[in-house]
Amino acid sequence: MAGYNQYSFVKEELEHDSKVIIKELSASLEKYLLLHDYGEIESIMRRFSLIEVIQSISLIDENSMPLLTIRKDVNKELQLEINTDKKYTNIEKHAGFFFTEDNHSYFSYKPIGNSVKKKWVMVEMSKEIGYARLMDLLLLVNITGIILIGFLSFIIYKIIYQPLKHIEYLTSFSSTLHKSYGVNCEVNSSIYEINSLADSLNQLSQELLKNQAIRTKQNEELRVFNTELTSRVEEEVLKNREKDILLLNNSRLAALAEMIGNIAHQWRQPLNAIALLIQSLQISYELDDLNKKEFNEFVDDSLLQVDYLSRTIDDFRDLTKDEIDNEPFNVSEILSKTFRLIEPSLMNASIQSTLDIQDGIICHHSSANALSQAIINILNNAKDALIQQDVNEKEIHIQLKQVGTTIEISINDNAGGIPTEIIEKIFNAYFTTKHQSNGTGLGLYISKKIINKEMDGRLEVINNAKGACFRIVFSNSRRIC
Ligand SMILES: Nc1ncnc2c1ncn2[C@@H]1O[C@H](COP(=O)(O)OP(=O)(O)OP(=O)(O)O)[C@@H](O)[C@H]1O
Ligand SMILES: [Mg+2]
Repeated sequence: MAGYNQYSFVKEELEHDSKVIIKELSASLEKYLLLHDYGEIESIMRRFSLIEVIQSISLIDENSMPLLTIRKDVNKELQLEINTDKKYTNIEKHAGFFFTEDNHSYFSYKPIGNSVKKKWVMVEMSKEIGYARLMDLLLLVNITGIILIGFLSFIIYKIIYQPLKHIEYLTSFSSTLHKSYGVNCEVNSSIYEINSLADSLNQLSQELLKNQAIRTKQNEELRVFNTELTSRVEEEVLKNREKDILLLNNSRLAALAEMIGNIAHQWRQPLNAIALLIQSLQISYELDDLNKKEFNEFVDDSLLQVDYLSRTIDDFRDLTKDEIDNEPFNVSEILSKTFRLIEPSLMNASIQSTLDIQDGIICHHSSANALSQAIINILNNAKDALIQQDVNEKEIHIQLKQVGTTIEISINDNAGGIPTEIIEKIFNAYFTTKHQSNGTGLGLYISKKIINKEMDGRLEVINNAKGACFRIVFSNSRRIC
């Protein structure tokens, strides 16, 4: 491909050159041909033959026979050939300039003179010299190109690469080692953009330094703030925990007070009975009417009342005593005892209670206190709701059952249920619909908390057809600590 291109290039070059030469030559010969001045013709042909690439020049007559030929020999000497018998074929079929070639040369022909005495000028050009000339040209172009590239590279290196490299070095240097000192990039380039790049870099570096200082300050402030925040959060968490403990204790105290109120109520009747018995004993004694049988009856009746009092105290003690870790307890008994303590106040409010307690349900984790406290809160709420709604036949139904390992206590009332707009809020602390003097809004909040925490159980509420239904659900098995 490269050879073909070179060949075509040389051919085109020589064709072009030959056209110019033959045009000039014909113009010069024209006049002398009319004058038949063959001496001048020869000298003109000789002058043109001195052109390096020209191998021979011929003047050819109308019969295609050469009249005059000037040819270079091997020593590049010009030789004159006259009237050789070499006949040029195919000339007559051309009307004007034409170009042919053989292995060694390119030939260009141009007609000269008038149509009657038409002659031809032929110029032969050496392919070998043409190629050599091209090679010289290419060599020159290559050398010039290489010199130019070298020069350009040098310029690029000097005025672009070197300053850029310097900038790059300073940039990386400043981003690693000299963070705190910044960078001062002194570039003296003849290219305006590079100098302005260096200036921008210096400015950027100064800005970075400033920003770094601001960031360090902000980091320090943030660190101090974080430390303060952590200690403040810890303080608040501690306060919250203390508040929870306080709330829990308050709620326990409230439950105890409720129970003591109930005990006082329960004790009034047997104490009255004992007082009456003592009075009748005293009267019988004063009337001298006291026999052994009556005395024994008095003792039995009194002991019965005392026994009732003592049982109430036992129930109370059982529900308030400290629990031993992981001591199992009988849920059925705890529920009965809790109910017994609150029953008188329910009866006082004309509430009909029904119990459906499955016997012998044992829970293997010590949370009897929590359970009884929650039950008291729920029962008191039910009592309050029934009184407030002034229901005709006030009812509370308590059920205890175990399904598999799940123990479930449900407490239903017929007070109409909890309004849907507040049902989501009743477990929130301090939420109450009762007048402040009647309710703190902590009962259900504490109950839910202790059932969650101390029993790993859950306290939930739904409204059924007649009223509210609270469910305490927990597992009978030991908690995984
Ligand atoms: N059985 C129920 N029927 C209707 N509403 C109820 C029932 N139980 C609770 N509520 C509603 O839930 C609210 C919150 O109950 P919670 O026990 O937490 O507080 P409280 O009873 O108002 O006050 P506290 O228990 O501290 O004396 C009650 O004020 C009441 O409006
Ligand atoms: Mg309550």
